[in-house]
Amino acid sequence: MPEGLRRRVVLLPGDGIGPEVVIEAAQVLQAVSRRAAVPIELEEHAVGGAAIERFREPLPEETLAAAGAADAVLLGAVGVPRLDALPRGERPERALLGLRKGLGVFANLRPVRLHPALEAASPLRPDIVRGTDLLIVRELTGGLYFGTPRGVEGEGAARRARNTMAYSASEIARIARVAFEAARRRRKKVTSVDKANILEVSQLWRDVVDETARAYPDVRLEHLYVDNAAMQLVARPNDFDVILTENLFGDILSDEAAMLAGGIGMLPSASLGEGPGLYEPVHGSAPDIAGRGVANPLGAILSAAMLLRHSLGLPAEADRIETAVGQVLDAGARTADLARPGETAISTRDMGRRVREALDRGTPGERVR
Ligand code: IPM
Ligand code: MG
Repeated sequence: MPEGLRRRVVLLPGDGIGPEVVIEAAQVLQAVSRRAAVPIELEEHAVGGAAIERFREPLPEETLAAAGAADAVLLGAVGVPRLDALPRGERPERALLGLRKGLGVFANLRPVRLHPALEAASPLRPDIVRGTDLLIVRELTGGLYFGTPRGVEGEGAARRARNTMAYSASEIARIARVAFEAARRRRKKVTSVDKANILEVSQLWRDVVDETARAYPDVRLEHLYVDNAAMQLVARPNDFDVILTENLFGDILSDEAAMLAGGIGMLPSASLGEGPGLYEPVHGSAPDIAGRGVANPLGAILSAAMLLRHSLGLPAEADRIETAVGQVLDAGARTADLARPGETAISTRDMGRRVREALDRGTPGERVR
């Protein structure tokens, strides 16, 4: 096989349920590799608590180097409660921020799509969530997560802590362009979320988004304050197409939006920049259910689909995976997080196997090569 065809994916299973869901997604990638006759090489590295145990640091040099040299990175989750007492710079979560910054993945895409079969799995009323199909475009390498000065100073009652929310016009413009481009491929509406009634950062955000919008006259733009957006998201989710927002607001709104799609176990994400993309399910390490084989692997499997689409240039294979996931849900397969009272829950491995079987069968009318 010529070298140019070979695709390299670094797997970072991480902590908690991370390894359990990543293995299912990795097997889906292998199935795609076989059927599309594209060699996809998978290479595993340590991250998070798993890396702290082996290398005494959450993001070893060799992990970041391997990630940077790959075509794409598929991450499970990081976070171990036992390690929460470590100083901030040594906690497993540090690895995530290090990877995002190290790979320069400033654009975090979190599609929130409710599969019709899961209407009843949402804690919100079916008539409200029905038809939900939105995309959160979250800025990922700026804002409060990275701004300086930061830290805690002083002793005892005199302790004082601070973080800095800062954005440059160019950082805002580049994430705004991602949102407008995405909207062009969708329903052509961008809702930019800020706190421009209070924050200077948001005032600049709003100005730059307005300026960027001029190059996209075919896309409708609206601005919402973040508190109002949080309310509207659960009141009228169908009015949203692309939500464009900064790092912390996007973190909060994307967990809220997960509830529209039947739970956080369903949500995939892609983080994109100039180099390799970073793909991960939005759910965390879920230590309470880790090791029991009950986690929902669909967020990870749908992240693998995004990886094929955005980093490996295999959009048709991505579509196939999404179709297969839909078929499996239509057929009634539910992991514990999705099962309603009286419904039988299947294991992580069974859910992964069902998706691969659906993939092998292909969509009706399609010939499997
Ligand atoms: C997320 C997570 C992370 C974040 C944490 C684990 C650092 O909540 O990806 O949404 O806040 O970005
Ligand atoms: Mg979050």
